[in-house]
Amino acid sequence: MLEKIGEIKKTALDALAKIEGEEGLDQWKVTHLGRSSAIMDVFKNMGSVPKEERGNVGRTANQVKQALQAALDEKKEALHQAEIQRALQEEKIDITLPGYAIPRGRLHPTTQTLREIYRVFADMGFQIYRSREVETDEFNFQLLNFPPHHPAREMQDSFYVDSGEERGENPILLRTHTSPGQIRAMREFTAENPDNPPPVRIILPGMCYRYEQVSARSETQFTQVEGLAVGHDVTFSDLKGTLSDFARRMFGKNVDSRFRASHFPFTEPSAEMDIECFLCGGAGCSVCKHTGWLEILGCGMVHPNVLSNGGYDPERYSGFAFGMGPERITMLRYHIEDIRYFWANDMRFLEQF
Ligand code: PHE
Repeated sequence: MLEKIGEIKKTALDALAKIEGEEGLDQWKVTHLGRSSAIMDVFKNMGSVPKEERGNVGRTANQVKQALQAALDEKKEALHQAEIQRALQEEKIDITLPGYAIPRGRLHPTTQTLREIYRVFADMGFQIYRSREVETDEFNFQLLNFPPHHPAREMQDSFYVDSGEERGENPILLRTHTSPGQIRAMREFTAENPDNPPPVRIILPGMCYRYEQVSARSETQFTQVEGLAVGHDVTFSDLKGTLSDFARRMFGKNVDSRFRASHFPFTEPSAEMDIECFLCGGAGCSVCKHTGWLEILGCGMVHPNVLSNGGYDPERYSGFAFGMGPERITMLRYHIEDIRYFWANDMRFLEQF
């Protein structure tokens, strides 16, 4: 019997030695340590072993069973280690290889310019006022002192909105500039309104629309930033001081600016502001068309009719207003020659900013 047990052990260990992968171990365990394995049969048949040998046979069988379990555990561990070694050898990761570049999102160039404008005017005490993009002829033109047959009102200049109703002289349109917001803001900033008492000191950013032939210089939609300051004794010097300070804060502390007389129906007097060309420093280049100056905004003293349309007595109040185009400023800054890039959604353009 003891001999047989020795054989059982040898057979089992030989079989174990031949196993090369962890997956063979479960089957081996069933065969050599399972309920119907040879070693378990020894225990089952203990009854037929002569009494005096039983102790010895039992002890030996037990030792063999334990030895087989131990051999199994050892083999399992050895195979596991071998697998780790293999993986380490074969599945080397070369950490010096360049990784995949994750594309970074960025802000649209107009948004970047807008934010700079906000920052500069916020520092000067202006607050942002948001006005609607869909306007009426009354706010977009009439209240801004446009004469009745001003060419800007013609079909070729405005996008009219079909409201399904007959509106006569006051059709609905997409605002052609941010100036109608002046009227809306003045009507909201009143002595009776504790949240927004005068003086008015705001900028009005937003999208504007014009029914125009799209070209390198004009788009049907573009942003504007309007500015409005209304109070007692606001003068043209305040306008000049504020805007030349804006130019220095925005374009550089030594940037010179100049004002040229101009005309807008809603301001009187009106002007356009040029800044010294930041590309050539005033010497003359293709961007400033060899004048040394770049036009960046329109401005003027709020017309008395506009003040009263906004609810302010022009005898007691005065104000200045200005309007600029962030796309135009961005074009000048980065030497962009075609305004259509701003809305073309071409990543090659957008990724440069
Ligand atoms: N609204 C004018 C334009 O679109 C700009 C402007 C605003 C001029 C305010 C003067 C004062 O061209």
